Amino acid sequence: VNVACIVVAAGRGERLGEGRPKAFVEVGGRPLVWHALRAASGAARVTHVVVVAPDGFEGDPALGGAVAVVPGGATRQHSVANGLAALPGDTEVVLVHDAARCLAPSQLFDAVAAGVLAGHDAVIPGLPVVDTLKVVDGAGRVTATPDRTELRAVQTPQGFRRTVLERAHAAAVERGDTDAPDDAALVERIGLPVHVVAGHSDAFKVTRPQDLLLAETVLARRAA
Ligand code: C5P
Repeated sequence: VNVACIVVAAGRGERLGEGRPKAFVEVGGRPLVWHALRAASGAARVTHVVVVAPDGFEGDPALGGAVAVVPGGATRQHSVANGLAALPGDTEVVLVHDAARCLAPSQLFDAVAAGVLAGHDAVIPGLPVVDTLKVVDGAGRVTATPDRTELRAVQTPQGFRRTVLERAHAAAVERGDTDAPDDAALVERIGLPVHVVAGHSDAFKVTRPQDLLLAETVLARRAA
């Protein structure tokens, strides 16, 4: 079975404040996207890796781990759609991964792919949430406190039957949705079940400056 992985790396990453696209900020002396591509390529079940790159970075040597490079879109959803359009025709399962989750281990890609191969339409990794979360209205007033045991913080790679993800993206375009929070949300919107498997603490998303410090520490621990 052909399992493709789309690594989206075309975001600007302004919250990181490094003055270049986040995926090209370095940890352990290599860009985040280099680490992400290495993990995707290292997964036993992944047969094809496509990377979605920001303008001007299509030829960057950090992208050497991918077999195809495609241009990014205005939103993450558009970037994923560009990756989907570039998949080989015989792809049956597709994983979508954020380059910013650069230290997600290869085993997580395999676990997510295994869930789809076992028959689930959509499989996403998730972890219990550590903070108590509040729903807050525009005036700063708390309107609800969801039961934490029912919540999961979800990660990537997210895995899908290819036909399901293509249908979900096509339906989003028809509805006029352009900026879905993640791919699973688009599958939920077409009424199909999304299955959660155990996430991994190393699959955190590099977003703020302190996340780079954590990433350096995780890499140093792996090297020790
Ligand atoms: O901004 P955020 O961290 O949520 O982005 C998640 C992932 O989506 C990142 O890896 C980023 O590079 C990617 N992205 C993209 N194209 C965009 C916006 C984000 O590929 N237009």
